[in-house]
Amino acid sequence: MFLYILALVVLLYIYRWFRELKRVPNKSEKYVYITGCDSGFGNLLARHLDSLGFSVIAGCYTEKGEDELKKACSTRLSTVPLDVTNNDSIRKATEIIRKLVGERGLWAVVNNAGVSVPSAPNDWLVIDDFMHMINVNLNGVIAVTLSVLPLIKKAKGRVVNVASVFGRVSPFGGPYCVSKYGVEAFNDSLRMNMVHFGVKVLCIEPGFFKTSVTDTKLLENSIQKLWERLPQDVKNDYGSDYMDRVKVMMKEKFVKMLDGDLMKVVSCMEHAVSAVHPRTRYSPGWDAKFFWLPLSYMPTCIADALLSKNVVKPKVASL
Ligand SMILES: NC(=O)c1ccc[n+]([C@@H]2O[C@H](COP(=O)([O-])OP(=O)(O)OC[C@H]3O[C@@H](n4cnc5c(N)ncnc54)[C@H](OP(=O)(O)O)[C@@H]3O)[C@@H](O)[C@H]2O)c1
Repeated sequence: MFLYILALVVLLYIYRWFRELKRVPNKSEKYVYITGCDSGFGNLLARHLDSLGFSVIAGCYTEKGEDELKKACSTRLSTVPLDVTNNDSIRKATEIIRKLVGERGLWAVVNNAGVSVPSAPNDWLVIDDFMHMINVNLNGVIAVTLSVLPLIKKAKGRVVNVASVFGRVSPFGGPYCVSKYGVEAFNDSLRMNMVHFGVKVLCIEPGFFKTSVTDTKLLENSIQKLWERLPQDVKNDYGSDYMDRVKVMMKEKFVKMLDGDLMKVVSCMEHAVSAVHPRTRYSPGWDAKFFWLPLSYMPTCIADALLSKNVVKPKVASL
């Protein structure tokens, strides 16, 4: 009996593998708009899709990002200056895209732009600390998507949202997890809304990868600044050696968790854009597949116990 079940599972996997191999035709006629192309996944995805023959429209935060990408890619690739927190910038980018795609419509938007600081225990923060990141990571995703949705409906295309495993579990304070949970919610409701129009909505939930958002120096500097502005009673709660313990944890644990193979994420993004039968969700990274996602299905008490083993605890900790 066990062997029959095993054979059935293997057959289902083989069937899925074959089904997912098929790619969409006429790539050069398909326009793909990607946000946050200056660095990291977005930059690599722009280059990769360009090399596969797609017509990439790369949204770049900086002029330098635009110049470097243009030099590295074919003439099919165009760039647009884009700040996803600025409505005017989004509107101008949409106008350029509308002219470029014409009657074909837009094949895909990849909502990739994101930031990761400030991240710290919630009692260190004020509401303004939440606003900027939520504006980039969540409101930016919604605003960019809505701005090009009519063009995507025209092409019966795709919306690809880059969330995170931290849209499933929330092991640290600050706006990052809040924003990524929001992306998941927007993604899921949009998927249900758009199915009637032949538009697919796909979500990428990467684990830890080595990019600017996980840069230890950036994260350490940001948390150090937040520490320095804390009132003395909160510092006392956490202990005078708290920052030293955070730095040790970053050096000894966090850095070792980072996967340097960004293509694991970019291949998932490419599949979401180009496969005839894309997956609804992608979880690139071993940590995502074997730790964070299983953790997200566990009872809260077990998940909390597992997570709290590895966090840097305040001095007054009662656990
Ligand atoms: N790396 C990971 O482990 C990981 C895991 C899960 C999810 N993610 C998500 O993956 C996405 C890409 O991040 P990444 O890891 O590739 O890091 P990254 O290299 O920092 O890429 C983020 C990009 O977004 C751009 N950006 C920042 N603010 C912007 C704004 N207001 N408007 C437009 N663009 C803006 C950045 O430009 P500048 O470089 O000029 O600032 C950068 O090019 C993010 O949504 C992130 O949350 C990353």
